[in-house]
Amino acid sequence: MKFFVDTADTAEIKSLAASGLLDGVTTNPSLIAKSGRRILDVIAEICATVPGPVSAEVAATDYDGMLAEARVLRRIAKNVTVKVPLTPDGLRACHHLTQDGAMVNVTLCFSAAQALLAAKSGATFISPFVGRLDDVGQDGMVLIADILQIYRNYGFKTEVLVASVRHPIHVITAAKLGAHVATLPPAVLRSLFNHPLTDKGLAAFLADWAKTGQQIA
Ligand code: G3P
Repeated sequence: MKFFVDTADTAEIKSLAASGLLDGVTTNPSLIAKSGRRILDVIAEICATVPGPVSAEVAATDYDGMLAEARVLRRIAKNVTVKVPLTPDGLRACHHLTQDGAMVNVTLCFSAAQALLAAKSGATFISPFVGRLDDVGQDGMVLIADILQIYRNYGFKTEVLVASVRHPIHVITAAKLGAHVATLPPAVLRSLFNHPLTDKGLAAFLADWAKTGQQIA
């Protein structure tokens, strides 16, 4: 399973990239706004840090506007993935861009029907938002299972990128289902390391080691 980080905070991205665990990055207009920086600068810095796919979302909502913005975003770096919303214009832009060799992430997916349309439009990634579905009382992970089943039935190459991840259980359930990618807020990625028995065990080993008076290096 690939791990992307869902942030436009370049300091966080650099720190997580050093762990060797990052396969890519996703951003969205809200995350760019939170960074307080210009999108072109942020995306360029991220692309120079992480060699994997870096999603940069268009702000236009019409087909021509999306293609114009995609041209600008694709010029930043080879690993830019153009992110488009799951709308008729967005999927038309997805079809055009993927035919032209671009990577495209179709975002704001909340149903299996939408995911089927995105795959038929040649999407590189489909981003179902599991946390936001959970928030309205619909089990987001059921959607992931449905999409994976449909894509497997027809051999679609589109990768399921689990988005709007809120906690480690989302990550583990997605991995058990075989989702290709999860995009994680930095705090969720860091939380995957944690277990109290690891901390307790390490403290006990170190206390016993100190009693030996030895040094390894
Ligand atoms: O980037 C898309 C998605 O991951 C947003 O998550 O937490 O705003 O629902 P969230």
